[in-house]
Amino acid sequence: MHVKQSKYLFMILKIEIKNEGIHGKRQKKEEGKFHEIELLFRYTSHPTNSATNENGDGAEAKRGNGNRRVVVLAMAAASALRTEELEEDDDGETVVGLGSYGGKVRLLAGAGGCDVEGEAAAAETMLLWGIQQPTLARPNAFVSQSSLALAIEACGHSLSILQSPSSLITPGVTGSVMWDSGIVLGKFLEHAVDSGMLLLQGKKVVELGSGCGLVGCISAFLGAQVILTDLPDRLRLLRKNVETNLNHDDMRGSAVVKELIWGDDPDRDLIEPLPDYVLGSDVIYSEGAVEDLMETLLQLSGTQTTIILAGELRNDSILEYFLDTAMKYFFVGRVDQAQFHPDYHSQRVAMYVLVKK
Ligand SMILES: C[S@@+](CC[C@H](N)C(=O)[O-])C[C@H]1O[C@@H](n2cnc3c(N)ncnc32)[C@H](O)[C@@H]1O
Repeated sequence: MHVKQSKYLFMILKIEIKNEGIHGKRQKKEEGKFHEIELLFRYTSHPTNSATNENGDGAEAKRGNGNRRVVVLAMAAASALRTEELEEDDDGETVVGLGSYGGKVRLLAGAGGCDVEGEAAAAETMLLWGIQQPTLARPNAFVSQSSLALAIEACGHSLSILQSPSSLITPGVTGSVMWDSGIVLGKFLEHAVDSGMLLLQGKKVVELGSGCGLVGCISAFLGAQVILTDLPDRLRLLRKNVETNLNHDDMRGSAVVKELIWGDDPDRDLIEPLPDYVLGSDVIYSEGAVEDLMETLLQLSGTQTTIILAGELRNDSILEYFLDTAMKYFFVGRVDQAQFHPDYHSQRVAMYVLVKK
């Protein structure tokens, strides 16, 4: 298989894919100066009978045909990774089962150097921006942020999600309208449950930064006991959407709305017991909020908690910073677009599964 080697980068200047790997040039701002750094993610093959990886510090698993092997850095022993499902996809990425999500995810892992997480985060953002090219896809493909309500079919129901477009002009207010990644995550959950990749019936779910509440409402329709959370001044609209959309007799799950400010200590009912799932859509959009968000993710999760985050690809350095930080504490895998709901996917939206190490 492939051991990725990279240096540290930020802004992609140029990307080329050659036989031996992916080449790119990016700029990193360091101590006030920009440095242009050449990048090479080189893929190398190894004979299957070799006992350790190049660095001698990684666990490994063998798979596939003949003379390639998969090296998974010090991760194979972890129960969160379903290593028996580990394999290499057509692009040479390591795909693996992670947490309670039944589909495979592309595991983000560095080459075992001194900054494994930094390397893997840089590689990931470079692949997304260089190959997936999110800026070419249409923004707001599934939402109309100037409308007072968004109509959407989900779980056999017609949902009407109220929005407050005029509140968007207030600095710091983002949750008063729906965002594409919320629609993509909500419909992904429905699709994943329908296709047997996810079980939400009876599960405890906490949603972060719920905004207008579509993801939490869909989770409740899918049978989960959901706690939708957001900042204090966002709760009125959120409660209204929950009340008006979840008043059916055939509700399988339940939903309550609670205040949760990232970085603050969560109320006991959020963490006792720890949730089976933590969900969030479009919650990684501000560098200043990454640390608080990470603290909340750590407080809300145990090794049995599966975190699913969907986000719009607007800013590579914020995503890179988030992933770099997240990989210190969590296994992180990207869900391939092919697993999204067939009618609700976009090159602008990426989805990650995280499980605590
Ligand atoms: C871009 S909106 C996304 C809303 C919704 N999840 C969606 O996809 O439509 C970000 C959400 O995160 C919430 N948020 C931002 N910072 C927060 C913080 N520090 N603590 C709690 N929630 C926060 C906002 O109020 C908002 O609802």
